[in-house]
Amino acid sequence: MFQGAYPLEERYDLWSLATFKPNRKIPVHRWFYFKEGFSRELVVMLAGELGVSEGDIVLDPFVGSGTTPLTCMELGYRGIGVDASPLAVFVSLAKTRIYSPDELRQALDSCLATRPIHQVLDGLSNTVKRAFPMKSLQELLSLMDAVETVENEDSRIFLKLALMNAAVKASYIYRDGSVLKFVKRPVPPLRPLFRKIAQAMIDDVKKIHFRSGPAIILEGDARRLEAIEDESVNVIITSPPYLNKIEYTKMYEVELELFFRKKRLDLLRSYIGLIARSPPREIPSLDGLPDSAKLYFYDMSESLKEMWRVLMDGGRAAVVVAGGVYPDKVVESDVILAALAEDVGFKVEKIRVISRRVATSGRTHRIGAARESIIYLRK
Ligand SMILES: C[S@@+](CC[C@H](N)C(=O)[O-])C[C@H]1O[C@@H](n2cnc3c(N)ncnc32)[C@H](O)[C@@H]1O
Repeated sequence: MFQGAYPLEERYDLWSLATFKPNRKIPVHRWFYFKEGFSRELVVMLAGELGVSEGDIVLDPFVGSGTTPLTCMELGYRGIGVDASPLAVFVSLAKTRIYSPDELRQALDSCLATRPIHQVLDGLSNTVKRAFPMKSLQELLSLMDAVETVENEDSRIFLKLALMNAAVKASYIYRDGSVLKFVKRPVPPLRPLFRKIAQAMIDDVKKIHFRSGPAIILEGDARRLEAIEDESVNVIITSPPYLNKIEYTKMYEVELELFFRKKRLDLLRSYIGLIARSPPREIPSLDGLPDSAKLYFYDMSESLKEMWRVLMDGGRAAVVVAGGVYPDKVVESDVILAALAEDVGFKVEKIRVISRRVATSGRTHRIGAARESIIYLRK
């Protein structure tokens, strides 16, 4: 199958690898359910196809929940992850440390030995107050204080993630598709839940085997990878936000405020720009697209330039993307991004289509198929 200038290879058998689902059974990978994430298996497959060797540097500039660098540590590659979301950076960091189970156990015991202290709730938003039964919120703030006093930084990060996971389970939070809802229901007491979740995570630490040191995880913008030197990366494996897809930050509003002291950041829109800007310079190939799509592709073109800059000569990249559905049309991101990558200087090796959802308007009128694809690039 050919679409314009690029060979499209159809591999619909691979569709589930581009979802987070397979990670739910894998130690450490399962520490944070990230709906937008892809699987460990996909990273293993892509690393093999792109010829990554032991000791190579693999970058994921949209690292999300850390699947790429975590898998790299298992395979003996050096992983670097960048993300603009403090929550994603934190989760990736927590999943890519090398922990001592004994040290974690001691830190957990010392947190559990503290007594709850009455907490003042003045600074908290109504959203946070509505998300928990009062008793759980009091308990949570006390445990957060206890975790903050843990001296060893890695243990502190680990326990913070365990507590965040426990807090969600002891809350009224219900994430329905891309909407955050609060549903009043009986919830389990937080302290025993925290113990159970942290203990299960410590068991995971004993199960995973790493062949390289901790990954480097940075908060940053994929359009300006200032911390990464020119031609210093062997391979890029990544999945940027999908065009016209869900708003990430709203879903995690409660965690962001409680654990990262961020109130309702409208940081990340469905396009990858951090700040809404005036319309970008014109790219002729984008003529006729909706404005939000133009902004998305403009930002992605900036990010592709950065990928080109940091890759070594001959370096390869695999970029997982999907088409955007608009009321009257489907915008085929894979071929547009491939063309933008070519403008930047990349050779497009192929586009592998892994899923294809028929999009309709008014339920019956077929407006096209939104493809999910992997774009293979070479510098
Ligand atoms: C599709 S998710 C990546 C999921 C990841 N592959 C995983 O398995 O968890 C896209 C990520 O891009 C991040 N992002 C959005 N805009 C960004 C930007 N300008 N720079 C860096 N990261 C950005 C989002 O915070 C989100 O974590």
